Amino acid sequence: MRCLGIESSCDETALALVEDGRLIDAVLATQADMHALFGGVVPELASREHYRFCGALFDELMRRAGLDASAVDVVAVSRGPGLLGSLLVGVAFAKGLALGCGARFLGVNHLHAHLLAAGLEGATLFPSLGLLASGGHTHLYRLDSPSRIVQLGRTLDDAAGEAFDKVGKLMGLAYPGGRLLDMLARQGRADDRLFPRPYLDNDNLDFSFSGLKTAAAAWLSPLAKTVDWPRPLNDPADAPQELKDGCASFNKAVVDTLMEKTRRALDRNPDLRRLVVAGGVAANSLLREEATALMTARGGEVVFPSPRLCTDNAAMVAYAGWLLACEGWEHPLSMETIPRGRAIPEDMRRAAKP
Ligand code: KG4
Ligand code: ZN
Repeated sequence: MRCLGIESSCDETALALVEDGRLIDAVLATQADMHALFGGVVPELASREHYRFCGALFDELMRRAGLDASAVDVVAVSRGPGLLGSLLVGVAFAKGLALGCGARFLGVNHLHAHLLAAGLEGATLFPSLGLLASGGHTHLYRLDSPSRIVQLGRTLDDAAGEAFDKVGKLMGLAYPGGRLLDMLARQGRADDRLFPRPYLDNDNLDFSFSGLKTAAAAWLSPLAKTVDWPRPLNDPADAPQELKDGCASFNKAVVDTLMEKTRRALDRNPDLRRLVVAGGVAANSLLREEATALMTARGGEVVFPSPRLCTDNAAMVAYAGWLLACEGWEHPLSMETIPRGRAIPEDMRRAAKP
């Protein structure tokens, strides 16, 4: 079974083909440089760029794969959460394509796709605990099957990646700041007393990072008055040691918080011996070390998709669509597109033509 995946939830337009669980090919057009000029994604511009890229990328993918559109059995698309205008471009394109090719149509939860991506690289996924940490989300899930993924916790305000990016912006780091902050942190020494581990004094599995961002701003403001560094900062070599130490402390506060709630989720789901960590923040070096240490200590294992599957991509959408199609699911063309902040309904139906 061949599944075409379409991703347009934020600032990457991407298409990929998965056949029988293996990636055939993938194409991607990023808008990151354009949005970097504005210090963040501009939704209206993102939608226009998706519209400009979709058709051309589809043609390129099919040409490279040596396939005709009729060879597509399933069209899967990220239906949310994300920027509504951006999602609508991909979903409308996917619906038209499915109708035109006579293919099955499936809307995929973008966050589930992030977690399922590691399966494309041969990892066993079920059952497991999933920690999704990206620029827009910080969620914990229980993964029992492609269609049985239960949310256990979520962020109440800023996502982990958003906290990295906002603090990075305050520090004058080039956008998005997460990756550079991680690099600087590796050259610094963490002081555990500098920043709080926020929102741990409760018995839920939710996260809240906005207070940590405020604490970082309060620490940074006097430093910026006494020590100078170039802004935007692109090269770690230009950062003063005080800034690197602050990055190490902030990085550790975020990772400690993520790991503490992950540990609690594992305690409440003692049958789970596998942790899947996904999303852009899964590229963080300390998070990788700490998650590995946590699972090793518990006699379990940790799964990280490779970095190219951690950022937004269509291979994960095609793979998630393929898994769901194999379970016999589809969506009607009336399927809704879901913006960030709204729950994704469980509205798949049994496929007419399995
Ligand atoms: O999953 P993703 O590519 O986009 C969303 O769908 O949100 O995640 C991007 C986020 C950004 O906030 C970026 O700063 C963060 O992932 N990020 C990192 C690292 N690499 C990317 N955060 C911390 N450490 C990193 N190494
Ligand atoms: Zn994403």
